[in-house]
Amino acid sequence: MQEAINAQINAEMWSAYLYLAMSMDASSHGLRGVANWFKKQYEEEMEHAFKFVGYLQSQLCRVELAPIAEFPTCWDGCPLKMFENALAHEKKVTGMINNLCAIAAEEKDYATGIFLQWYVTEQIEEEANCQDAIDALKMIGEDKAAFFMYDSQLAAR
Ligand code: FEO
Repeated sequence: MQEAINAQINAEMWSAYLYLAMSMDASSHGLRGVANWFKKQYEEEMEHAFKFVGYLQSQLCRVELAPIAEFPTCWDGCPLKMFENALAHEKKVTGMINNLCAIAAEEKDYATGIFLQWYVTEQIEEEANCQDAIDALKMIGEDKAAFFMYDSQLAAR
């Protein structure tokens, strides 16, 4: 369980870098709201990672930090591509969290099972947020005025 949680800490930090890279790409194309949204998402992923760090520490387990694998850095300033990539990634993360739950059940580690419930709920929101953005961006299409308004909304996150 400890090993699997350490791997998840790395995965959460990888997610953080992915979203920070999206934020940088959006920013370089003048998409202020999208850049802000993904910067906030970067911060959330680091919170997810540190929540696991705190949990391992509370269980007197060793936290092992591993190198962050390479991540994509270019979406050509296309918010739809970013959010579609983010949704696909979040679905993968949901699978990882489910896998942690399965390990906890198999090891009869009930404390970790309860701790993981927060992440199970969080993943529902993570996927829904990405899907909402995809739906909105598809509706906006090439309408620049509508996109400008939506970008301002994302800037307020
Ligand atoms: Fe840490 Fe986006 O799930």
